[in-house]
Amino acid sequence: MQTKINFNAGPAALPPEVLHEAAKAITKYKKTGLSILELPHRGKEFAEIVAESKQLVRELCDLDDNYEVLWLHGGGRQQFFMVPMNFLAENGSAGYIDSGRWSEEALEYATHYGDVQILATSKDSNYSHLPEWPAKVPKQLAYVHFTTNNTIYGTQWTNIPDTGKVPLIADMSSDIFSRKHDYSRYAMFYAAVQKNLGTPGIALTVIKKDMLERIVRPLPPMLSYAAQVKEDSILNTANVFGVYISLLMLRWTKEKGIATIEKENRHKAKLVYDAIDKSKIFTAHVREKAHRSMMNVCFTANTPENEKKFLALCDERDIIGIKGHRSVGGFRVSLYNAVTVEAVEQLIEVIKNI
Ligand SMILES: Cc1ncc(COP(=O)(O)O)c(C=O)c1O
Repeated sequence: MQTKINFNAGPAALPPEVLHEAAKAITKYKKTGLSILELPHRGKEFAEIVAESKQLVRELCDLDDNYEVLWLHGGGRQQFFMVPMNFLAENGSAGYIDSGRWSEEALEYATHYGDVQILATSKDSNYSHLPEWPAKVPKQLAYVHFTTNNTIYGTQWTNIPDTGKVPLIADMSSDIFSRKHDYSRYAMFYAAVQKNLGTPGIALTVIKKDMLERIVRPLPPMLSYAAQVKEDSILNTANVFGVYISLLMLRWTKEKGIATIEKENRHKAKLVYDAIDKSKIFTAHVREKAHRSMMNVCFTANTPENEKKFLALCDERDIIGIKGHRSVGGFRVSLYNAVTVEAVEQLIEVIKNI
């Protein structure tokens, strides 16, 4: 089993139960006489994996048949360009909320396809707080895109903003299934799965059926949401193992329950923020408590010596994955669903006793 205490931002810690089940499936998948790694993507067993995973996503998000569930290649970033390719016409305009590097990258990708309006940004303050949501969203926009949790800077939206009749699209890569959430407010949401939902390379994309009628240009089938829906995410050779791991994560999430997961996530985040706020050595990147992320806690040390000392102490205790993103520096502790309270307590010991 794993011996490190893993606070990486993604690929992130996975529950031991999931790893155990995956290991069994690598040796032998059910009664197929095959490893899951050899399983045909057009066979009955993979069709069952896809069907169960879709059902669990609907159940966990409390969504009806008006939403399509897709497993797509290319991780989070592929959605950055699939969204505008599908929904932003050359003469159209889309609204973006710029609350961190990932939202910024999403909007940069969109500029290749049509006009982009930055409705709000907190770039000037190095994304240390959430920007103010615009009082009114222009009616003519093709959609509004935002990022529910900013993985690099450690901010997270608590309310889902109102965009009136303009479809709202969310990148939920780093906080999907971390709390109770009204997913029916979105026309579409997506998540790179390597944080709360599996291993890298694929994205979960959930899209309202009526959005498929809004596709603005002819597209190669791999990049068209409509074509992917038609082929049930098995347009080409699917990432069988990746989708299987996500299914195991969905089963684990259901078994534990979102309410319990949320309670634990709040507790873990409070432990870390309280320890940092009380410390004379560390400062949280996000001062505004209401903007702080439960998933990623970013902070800095007061001197380069203390920074080094903290890293060395963590290293001694097998605590890994705490270095801040290369664009921010300092530290980042990711507290995704599979990170245990015990793991957090070990980290707190170091923060308190440095
Ligand atoms: C919020 C968010 N969006 C998108 C991405 C990009 O995902 P990928 O590396 O799978 O392209 C990340 C990666 O960490 C992320 O945190």
